[in-house]
Amino acid sequence: MNFKVMTEKLNKIKADLEIIIVIEKNLEHVFVQDKKILEKVGFTGKHEEVCLLAEYSRLYVGSESIKSPDVRSAIAVAIRSLSSTKFANVKIASYMSHPKCTAVLRGMVEGIILGAYHFDTYKSKKEKQALKNIIISLEEYHGHELDLESCQRAVINAKIGADATNYTRDIVNTAPDDCYPVVMAKMAKKLAKKNNLSCTILKPKELKKENMNALLAVARASRHEPRVIHLVHKPENPKAVISIVGKGLTYDSGGLSLKPADYMVTMKADKSGGAAVLGIMQAVAKMNLPVEVHGFVGAVENMIGGDAYKPDDVLVAKNGKTIEVRNTDAEGRLVLADVLCYAQQEVKSHYLFDMATLTGACVVGVGHYTSGVMGNSKMPVEMVLNAANKISGELATKLDFNRYLGKSLKSEVADMSNISNTRYGGGITGGMFLSEFIDEDHKDRWAHIDIAGPAFVEHAWGENPSGASGAGVRMMLRLIEKVSRGEGH
Ligand code: BES
Ligand code: ZN
Ligand code: ZN
Repeated sequence: MNFKVMTEKLNKIKADLEIIIVIEKNLEHVFVQDKKILEKVGFTGKHEEVCLLAEYSRLYVGSESIKSPDVRSAIAVAIRSLSSTKFANVKIASYMSHPKCTAVLRGMVEGIILGAYHFDTYKSKKEKQALKNIIISLEEYHGHELDLESCQRAVINAKIGADATNYTRDIVNTAPDDCYPVVMAKMAKKLAKKNNLSCTILKPKELKKENMNALLAVARASRHEPRVIHLVHKPENPKAVISIVGKGLTYDSGGLSLKPADYMVTMKADKSGGAAVLGIMQAVAKMNLPVEVHGFVGAVENMIGGDAYKPDDVLVAKNGKTIEVRNTDAEGRLVLADVLCYAQQEVKSHYLFDMATLTGACVVGVGHYTSGVMGNSKMPVEMVLNAANKISGELATKLDFNRYLGKSLKSEVADMSNISNTRYGGGITGGMFLSEFIDEDHKDRWAHIDIAGPAFVEHAWGENPSGASGAGVRMMLRLIEKVSRGEGH
């Protein structure tokens, strides 16, 4: 898809179709030329409501407000509605609340690319994308002069962020027997080569040497060897150092504490945190942000077999802490425990984040569309919440730790149990388990993001298609961009 931003008036631009965004159900706006017909067909302009008037070559879509998250999801739904049509050249007027504020423009371009995504790797018949050229008209707004250069920059950044999200979606949607740890490592190497990142891959021998016994235990029953991936973007004079750790369970059968059949389906998406790390690294490199970013992925498959790790086993994690395994389906925290220790050993970072499809409980608590953000301190948690909700369009909410839930991870035989002894608060106890593997230096610089809800949803929602959403990529990219501007916290 090609994007062109122009200052020409919309009616001077040639295209097969015009998309009109109706803000706040206002059918009186000058852009709305078909008020009577729209009323006749019952179009009211409510958020994400779409109406195609093919004979007039106009497509209307409602948006609740002019704010970028609303415009992003509205335009995405409009673009998705065109998936089986033949329109190739589309024009849209961009609303700008202020000529210097390119947020809406960026949201619009992101929405178009994210809305046009479809995963057809396994389809015999591929639907060809008809949409080729998107022309965005920036008619002078409120009489101010536009800064065209920053508009172009906004379009480029939107493309980088949305392409990275789609790259992550592709990885997550890939079937588990086509995307296993070794394949993920290969993807990381390819990504590094293309984007000038450095890349280190740890194989079982190195993992043993590093005492990553919890990770190795989870991996043991699989015919696929585990890998730990470490990607680095290292600019000169970085403003800060950020480490991001992703859970890359290429399949989670639950292990010997086997998942029920219905719950096992979609567990190819248990690599979403790791896939998000790859997407983030791609975007950070392409934007060449002046921040040193380290991406770590624990790529493992959790399977069953004679060699499987067992409930009742006691594991010694990389930092020496002992863990009583009471449920082999709580494997993500075991993998992350070791990778978090490794990440902190390798890099002393200003901010440390982990992203994981860690708990079903988080989905029960906050719903399918929202990530849960946890940590010991307000600062890193607030950074994530701000970047997610205020800028990226991803939804995130905070889940507070407390000492009483912490006690529920106590074990009679080891330093801790890998599951809580209470039925409730599973999202938080998952996060509190991870906090046991954060060292003193990083204690107040760390946030855990449970993306189990939004990472994979089996219906389309806003700018997200059915299947993988690429959760975590846009929120983390916006956070890193903020840090690169010196607006850390
Ligand atoms: N990968 C799952 C969590 C998950 C559930 C992700 C649903 C996405 C959607 C994780 O490894 C898991 O199985 N967690 C258990 C933990 C429990 C045994 C303490 C869970 O949530 O049930
Ligand atoms: Zn599990
Ligand atoms: Zn899992």
